[in-house]
Amino acid sequence: MTRTRIATCAASLVAVVVAALCSAAPAGAAGPQDTPAPPPYNGLATTPPLGWNDWYAFQCNINEQLIEQTADAIVSSGMREAGYQYVNLDDCWMSHSRDADGNLQADPVKFPHGIKAVADYVHARGLKLGIYEDVGSFTCAGYPGSYGHVQQDADTFAAWGVDFAKIDWCNVPFGDFPGLTQQQVAVKLYSQYSQALLATGRPILFSVCEWNPSLQPWTWAPQISNMWRSNGDYGDSWSLILANLDQEANLAAAAGPGHWNDPDILQVGLGGMSTAEDQAHFSAWAMLAAPLLAGNDLRTMSAATKDILTNRDVIAIDQDPLGAEATRLSHTANADVWVRSLANGDRAVMLLNRSDTPQTISTTASAVGLPNAGGYAVANLWTHSTTESAGSIAATVPADSAQLYRLAALHDEVDQYPPATMISVDPQVPPAYPGSDIRVAQPGQTIAVPASFENDGRAAATSTTLSLAAPDGWSVQGADVYAASVPTGKTLNGTWQVSVPASVAPGSYTLTATATYRWDDGRQTGASQGQGAIQVLVAPAGTADLSGLAWLSATNGYGPVLINRSYWGTPLTIHGTTYAHGLWLNANAAISYYLGGNCSQLTGDIGLDDSDRGPGTVDYQVYADGVSVYDSGVVTNSTPTIHLNVALTGAHVMQLVVGDAGDGIDFDNADIAAPLLVCGS
Ligand code: GLA
Repeated sequence: MTRTRIATCAASLVAVVVAALCSAAPAGAAGPQDTPAPPPYNGLATTPPLGWNDWYAFQCNINEQLIEQTADAIVSSGMREAGYQYVNLDDCWMSHSRDADGNLQADPVKFPHGIKAVADYVHARGLKLGIYEDVGSFTCAGYPGSYGHVQQDADTFAAWGVDFAKIDWCNVPFGDFPGLTQQQVAVKLYSQYSQALLATGRPILFSVCEWNPSLQPWTWAPQISNMWRSNGDYGDSWSLILANLDQEANLAAAAGPGHWNDPDILQVGLGGMSTAEDQAHFSAWAMLAAPLLAGNDLRTMSAATKDILTNRDVIAIDQDPLGAEATRLSHTANADVWVRSLANGDRAVMLLNRSDTPQTISTTASAVGLPNAGGYAVANLWTHSTTESAGSIAATVPADSAQLYRLAALHDEVDQYPPATMISVDPQVPPAYPGSDIRVAQPGQTIAVPASFENDGRAAATSTTLSLAAPDGWSVQGADVYAASVPTGKTLNGTWQVSVPASVAPGSYTLTATATYRWDDGRQTGASQGQGAIQVLVAPAGTADLSGLAWLSATNGYGPVLINRSYWGTPLTIHGTTYAHGLWLNANAAISYYLGGNCSQLTGDIGLDDSDRGPGTVDYQVYADGVSVYDSGVVTNSTPTIHLNVALTGAHVMQLVVGDAGDGIDFDNADIAAPLLVCGS
């Protein structure tokens, strides 16, 4: 799914339009350290809204049973008690035509009792109802837009008892605004909607769904709305979560009580990510002071998903009354540190491992802005345990995950809590090929594994023993290491030899180092653990179908890489030929496979997928151990199907890349169909 999303215009012109249209609005937004300003627009959303939206789980397959059952699930799951309020309809709730008086009407099949009845049902459960419309002539899914009917539609919503209005940015008749940039049109149309909602007299939270970040809604929407999109649509994958998070790295100053950046509906529980990834995503959105709108099916969610969505310590970070969005303190390709100031002087700190191997990530109490104190309480908001640090905040963070802490200065006596500790485990797996940062072990291989215990507490840890454990069937050679005392800031180190069993299934295996120690002058015992991972893979053999092979890593432009189907659920199809097997990618995408030097050739058919043909242009490339071995050149709609035959002899890692061919991403839906590797036995 793609649509053209291009336009930029000068911020100075916009400032003039904003000033003209919104002269009553107070200038500026609360910065992280400022005293919160009074809510500038309608007094709503003094903290970010919490609720649910149907779009990502259901798209147009919605009806009144779904909405009412979801309201019931918010109550029965404990989400209402945790703060969730809004039950939000998205696109496709309405009839394709207005009534004789030009009023919007609900789809009579999906909502036979009308929206007011749904609002009553939701209100009776102590919840609020949200609705969806569009400033353009049609919604994104092609239903009547509000253009030319703004006040009438706002009044309809108010009469139905709607409490939240998400207003989209599709099918805008730019031709009606000669001389105005797209950004100026956005300011004009959204300001009108903003005024119309106020004029209804009903408190309606206003959510600006202008999804083109080049129009910079954070520069003009804070004065006229309660939230605005900081991004285009995304999807349920780790790389897309990181992309939306990165987009907010410089937007904190725009947010504050009453007006919030919106990095889009939560993906938690939609099934595309691990529990650790979902937790990290939820942590990140809480740090961003984002609206927390669950996007999953609440009626059938797992206990793990419910536990994430109802983690009150994390929700309290999101809902902190200071309303200061987190800023990014440090950033590399592998690791970020984000920090958020809290109303009581505490700091929330997120150590984010962006990569697919464990990373040791650290910061200090002074770097996150805490005052000089004798020590710091470090509350882990997922394990709900608190430790005491002399100033270092460090953890070995597992792949694709985050640690979220609340830090408070401690003025009391030492040893109120166990010492903060950090354990790192660093298997010395050789690179997959010289210079690669991909580490792959083979069955039967023996790997050196150093591990260390660091005491970040305020007093010495005594009688400390460090040991290493591997999964059942693996062997660990080397004795535990011991130190009578590990003073503050010091480490205890050991190295073990770990053998991968000769027959083991491919996968990532966890090694756990455990330290036991005494603290509180030897009166109390403590234990802490840290993890490292060894990825074991075997080279493909014989003729291997790529669509059935586990990849090393994959990133995709829109949603995840899909196997054996297009985005629209249809079979992969290129110029009328359908393929039972293959991959659907959307530029810019990159996917890597481990070949272990055992394969000689990749064959397959490539071309744009028939399911969503538009002005797409892509460029396919294949790399063997980082060296380019194939480049398709620009592939368009009219390029005949290309039959691939790429030599890979001796390569340990193959990477397939689909680029946008330099013209941006628009209908860039690229198939790699019937892909086969020819490998040794
Ligand atoms: C746009 C919005 C989405 C969703 C769809 C509905 O893509 O950004 O959040 O509302 O429209 O069609």
